[in-house]
Amino acid sequence: MESPATRLMRNPVFSRIYQKAWRPIFTRGFSLGGHATADYDKALRAYLCRPGERMVLDIACGPGNYTRHIAVGLTGDGQVVGVDYSAPMLATAVATNSAGRASYLRVDAHAIPFSDNSFDEVICLAALYLIPDPLPVLDEMMRVALPGGLLVVFTSVAGPISTLPGVRTLAGIGGYRVFDRDEITGRLRDLGAEHIEQTLIDEGQYVLCRKPSGA
Ligand SMILES: C[S@@+](CC[C@H](N)C(=O)[O-])C[C@H]1O[C@@H](n2cnc3c(N)ncnc32)[C@H](O)[C@@H]1O
Repeated sequence: MESPATRLMRNPVFSRIYQKAWRPIFTRGFSLGGHATADYDKALRAYLCRPGERMVLDIACGPGNYTRHIAVGLTGDGQVVGVDYSAPMLATAVATNSAGRASYLRVDAHAIPFSDNSFDEVICLAALYLIPDPLPVLDEMMRVALPGGLLVVFTSVAGPISTLPGVRTLAGIGGYRVFDRDEITGRLRDLGAEHIEQTLIDEGQYVLCRKPSGA
């Protein structure tokens, strides 16, 4: 059965208000009303849109809010592909975040239809906590990344609020998963990831790592 959160992601009205109304408030919520998550996000966005000829995969791209931003920086044959399983989110992406070097595809993040070793950068932001079986998505990220490629994840982590009694269970009923501190990094380590860097900000975590260059 679909969780309330999954139903929301398939709602056409929600897909329209997500980028401007929901995402900024939700981002702020991860740092309990402070600016730390928004600050990290700003720096990450600047890095992701740096000029260059890269192949980038944006998993669970939603309405393409990062996809388009990345596309703007790409040069030469650089391309970004945004994938998501919600048709309304993808329709909004095409309507509002089209760009020359961006394309969108309807895909389940558990079965990404690209060959091994295809992308310089693979990102999955604000999505793993909505996916009922999220860790195999990390396996897919690692598989499609090129040797030496960068993986970037933003997701939840057990913080001051979610560790209060009952909060995690309630969140789970809504379809929102709270990860233990070492769950994401542990899986990436098991996959052989190198240079794992985890930044914890209250209820959120950014994890960056690289696929081994010899892989
Ligand atoms: C909250 S939005 C995140 C959008 C964007 N990445 C961002 O950072 O703002 C989460 C997205 O994950 C997508 N999603 C959830 N489960 C998925 C799955 N199994 N495969 C592909 N996309 C999925 C939803 O449809 C939704 O568009």
